Amino acid sequence: MKVFFIGAGPGAPDLITVRGAKILERVPVVMYAGSLVPRQILCHCRADAEIIDTASLDLDQQEACYRRAQTAGLDVARLHSGDPAIYGATAEQMRRLETLRIDYEVVPGVSSFTAAAASLASELTKPAVSQTVILTRVSGRASAVPERERLAELARSGATLCVFLSGPHLKRIVGELSPHYPPDTPVALVYRASWPDERSHRSTLGRLLREIRLRDWRLTTLLLVGGALSGGPALESRLYAPDYPHIFRPARRKGKRAGRRTAGARKPAGADS
Ligand SMILES: C[S@@+](CC[C@H](N)C(=O)[O-])C[C@H]1O[C@@H](n2cnc3c(N)ncnc32)[C@H](O)[C@@H]1O
Repeated sequence: MKVFFIGAGPGAPDLITVRGAKILERVPVVMYAGSLVPRQILCHCRADAEIIDTASLDLDQQEACYRRAQTAGLDVARLHSGDPAIYGATAEQMRRLETLRIDYEVVPGVSSFTAAAASLASELTKPAVSQTVILTRVSGRASAVPERERLAELARSGATLCVFLSGPHLKRIVGELSPHYPPDTPVALVYRASWPDERSHRSTLGRLLREIRLRDWRLTTLLLVGGALSGGPALESRLYAPDYPHIFRPARRKGKRAGRRTAGARKPAGADS
């Protein structure tokens, strides 16, 4: 018997990984967080699967589900929204499974922050603007954020911020960021990226709160902040520059066809950066 922690992706049923969907097709028990994972994802499950919505279950009750499946010798798929490694509360489940001597495996998923970037058609890392993405949140009722990770501390880097679980705290977040980012810093809110009722709003840090009704963004919303979100012209990276050779694309001399190694080309660097 084994438990598979599976990233369900941001919501659209075709944004789960092929590996995750294949496991869902065969396991007899599926536990999913109905508060964040839309039921449509369950289209991948086999028709006779036992489906358990964990939204109303505490950890002891979830453990009881794992125990029952263990006794019956049944594999379990545990679906988490986005990628299970990010605010998934998986570590505490894994600890319980270890105590029960139940084997487990993690299948990654498309996180909501990449789905939000896709919906905005924005690259989060733009040359000379920001090369760092910070995934963070503010303290909520369930979990406190360590003092050293306060938004004000993170904001000093000027990096692109993806603030999870931000819906109920937008006023506080904008207040904490405002002393550190200029008022014209681009921001974007994305609600239910990839769901049929997805919506987004682009603004600036200075204008955002004047432009939105807070109650429209309370649940399943990501706030993205940073210059990289700007649609304006940005520097091009050197990666695709014709005079930037690397191991997979040697330098091209004028008049030579692409793909041929040119004599005297500079020694290629690694291809990654
Ligand atoms: C408990 S966290 C889970 C994050 C998830 N593990 C991930 O990788 O996206 C829940 C928060 O993720 C964000 N979120 C999850 N799905 C989203 C979506 N489809 N669109 C926008 N934000 C989403 C929201 O900030 C929400 O409050």
